[in-house]
Amino acid sequence: MEKLSRRQLLGTAAVAGATLAMGTFSTAHAAEPAGVKLGSTIKSADFKTEKHVPVIDAPASVKPGETCTITVSVGKEVPHPNTTEHFISWIALYFKPAAGGPISELGKYEFTAHGESALGANKGNAYADPFSAIRLRLNASGTLVALSYCNIHGLWESSKEITVA
Ligand SMILES: [Fe+2]
Repeated sequence: MEKLSRRQLLGTAAVAGATLAMGTFSTAHAAEPAGVKLGSTIKSADFKTEKHVPVIDAPASVKPGETCTITVSVGKEVPHPNTTEHFISWIALYFKPAAGGPISELGKYEFTAHGESALGANKGNAYADPFSAIRLRLNASGTLVALSYCNIHGLWESSKEITVA
């Protein structure tokens, strides 16, 4: 390792001090990882006016271990297009326990038919609507969180509390 003279050390410290004073460097920025957080890109709105929001239909309360059916759909009030060019690609459902702990992925459904055909776009025979259902048993209260993905308009989310008592 190269040994620095006292003059060199003082010069280095002066440059570092000047840089800090100009605000070009701080420990807060150094600790922050670079990049985009996925959560910051997810949109949400009222499903009654915005066609992308996943709608969770679930009971407000269930008994511990009781099987319930939960559906998640997109376009319940305002239909979303389902064409070869513009469609809902998938829906995923998660559960976040109220007492804390990690989120659980409950299921994910992909919709892969949007009128594609060898004859051309929107000439196919099948159009899969963005609707999914899951039968579920819970042992703890928490929040259901749904995520949907539109191939044109990105990620959308909604949530609904469910009480287990
Ligand atoms: Fe869309």
